[in-house]
Amino acid sequence: MNQTLHPRPLRLGVNIDHVATIRNARGGDHPDPVRAAEIVAAVGGDGITAHLREDRRHIRDEDLARIQAATNLPLNLEMAATPEMLAIALRHKPHAACIVPEKREERTTEGGLDAAGMHNTLAPIAEELRAAGIRVSLFIEADERQLDAALRLGAPVVEFHTGEYAHAFADGDAARVERELRRISDMAALAAKNGIEAHAGHGLTFENVQPIAAIPQIAELNIGHYLIGEAVFVGLENAIRRMRELMDEVR
Ligand code: PXP
Repeated sequence: MNQTLHPRPLRLGVNIDHVATIRNARGGDHPDPVRAAEIVAAVGGDGITAHLREDRRHIRDEDLARIQAATNLPLNLEMAATPEMLAIALRHKPHAACIVPEKREERTTEGGLDAAGMHNTLAPIAEELRAAGIRVSLFIEADERQLDAALRLGAPVVEFHTGEYAHAFADGDAARVERELRRISDMAALAAKNGIEAHAGHGLTFENVQPIAAIPQIAELNIGHYLIGEAVFVGLENAIRRMRELMDEVR
């Protein structure tokens, strides 16, 4: 199919952070997240996502330029709202910058950004990113107050945090799963109505991806930890292909 004429309704961005986590466990240069980026491109992934954390626990500064040089795929740089990360984003000019909350002691990004409470911190950062031609995305809970804040900040994209949904799914708590799905689909519809593109991610797996992928207003999923974990058993190509199939089945 000609993808220019028939763009995919739901993009898959692959978060390659945890290839770097494994590399860093031994301090050398294997496995190289750049090789992962090349595989994502080869199997038809739509984008690369990477989170340069303040403590550099996975992706490091020097990885960014190498990842950008390795493929033509758009890079979605996840970053905390700090002057250091802003300067790095402006230097590397990724396709998109997804602003995420970051706490040094957390194992992963445990909740959405308080875009409402942080308006004054976020506004100048969003403005500088926008002026540099970088698409601003805010990683928020599917919550009307946060969506409203994203609208006031002029963010063209929000990514809804699916962590609570993923936990409910893993707990087998059907009522909570339903509640989370409703919250995410209502906010995706409201985002679209207001001209904001809706993305989603965090904790998505082969088992839980389809109800999220079926939400028609969601344009992109960003998936990392599960795909890299699954790649240990089936290879990264196969893991991405299977995720793509599952997403396509419901769109
Ligand atoms: N999207 C955002 C904004 C994230 O911070 C993360 C985790 O780094 C992901 C997606 C991917 O989450 P996971 O690794 O659980 O698939």
